[in-house]
Amino acid sequence: MMGDGTATLDQIGNETTIAVPLQGRPYGIIIGDNLIASAGKRLAATLPGARFAVVSDKNVAGLHLAPLKAGLEDQGLFLGSAVVAPGEVSKSFPVLEKLCETLLELGVERGDCVIAFGGGVVGDLAGFAASILRRGVRVVQMPTTLLAQVDSSIGGKTGIDTTQGKNLIGTFHQPSLVLADVAVLSTLSEREFRAGYAEVMKYGLLGDAPFFAWLEQNWADVFSGKDSKRRHAVETSARAKAEIVVADEREESGLRALLNLGHTFGHALEAFAGYSDRLLHGEAIAIGMRLAFTYSVGQGLCPPEDAARVAKHFTDVGLPTEIATIPGDAPTTGELLRLMAQDKKVKGGKLALVLARGIGQAFVENEVAMEPLTEFLKRECARR
Ligand SMILES: NC(=O)c1ccc[n+]([C@@H]2O[C@H](COP(=O)([O-])OP(=O)(O)OC[C@H]3O[C@@H](n4cnc5c(N)ncnc54)[C@H](O)[C@@H]3O)[C@@H](O)[C@H]2O)c1
Repeated sequence: MMGDGTATLDQIGNETTIAVPLQGRPYGIIIGDNLIASAGKRLAATLPGARFAVVSDKNVAGLHLAPLKAGLEDQGLFLGSAVVAPGEVSKSFPVLEKLCETLLELGVERGDCVIAFGGGVVGDLAGFAASILRRGVRVVQMPTTLLAQVDSSIGGKTGIDTTQGKNLIGTFHQPSLVLADVAVLSTLSEREFRAGYAEVMKYGLLGDAPFFAWLEQNWADVFSGKDSKRRHAVETSARAKAEIVVADEREESGLRALLNLGHTFGHALEAFAGYSDRLLHGEAIAIGMRLAFTYSVGQGLCPPEDAARVAKHFTDVGLPTEIATIPGDAPTTGELLRLMAQDKKVKGGKLALVLARGIGQAFVENEVAMEPLTEFLKRECARR
């Protein structure tokens, strides 16, 4: 199954395994319903000899930690848990320091394993801690948000934020296993689910037009969880992410950069909104992807009908598409350009943007001309 250079998918009974055949450190992504209670048994078999410390946040621990803990205890492999405060605030040096100390106090040794049990915040923080603890211990990602199941738990990017920006300190540390229980998404708030759905759409928009068309038809069942459609959306997205990671693990060939569709605009909007409840990551990315498509139309790259379909689908599912919908003060063009210039996608002063020739046809433009971009943002900031 593994080793042919692409992500492959096996469906057995109630679960699906996507192989991520990275050289030297292949791993599997297992997606299914109700995988938490049996995780202890599975982990004992997958990582023989390891004991497990669980990192989670307060919300996830309160709702879902008990069956995971019980299953690990049954195997005699539970070292303990470290529970951090929910939200982006936990991706910080003080929380990382405290977490590393707690993991050492729990007795995590070199052959043991950290389980990141939560959304993208816990995944990034616990993955980073695991990568530096005792010069690197293994991590298993157990993502509990839609965003984490389709994106952040796969691919090994870990990190924390600093006052200079998001995710500027971190490592690549691939997980030993990703275990995504789709059933836990039922406790996620609708707003968080919808924000994660923006990343699901992203896979259709960047390289899979039939998947986008499927989402246009089936999104209501994906939201309600009817007829395994939610699982199909998670599997298709996770497989797309895995394929990109296998082809370009460290963002060197440019392929992985396609995952940033909408992100340069989106990160600037998120930074403007102060990384707060004012605008969730997925909401910012939704506006950013709509902007990327509209800008592509203006550059004569993309048919206007495609950009209209993108905007309509965002609106149908209740995601924002306009800068003006962000609550509070509106950003100015100058502010947005300054924040976009701070993005990691700036190289040698040149701004790179992911643009599209149509739905499913994204590409990286490495030298975006500033004048048309400035004029475009002026128009977008003025739209009401
Ligand atoms: N490493 C990567 O490749 C990568 C990719 C994309 C995003 N990220 C990072 O991911 C983070 C965002 O992740 P997120 O959107 O999952 O946010 P999050 O981890 O903050 O989770 C969102 C909220 O949902 C709660 N929650 C989580 N699972 C729940 C469940 N099953 N039921 C009820 N509540 C639940 C959390 O407690 C939190 O309040 C950002 O820090 C971003 O930088 C990383």
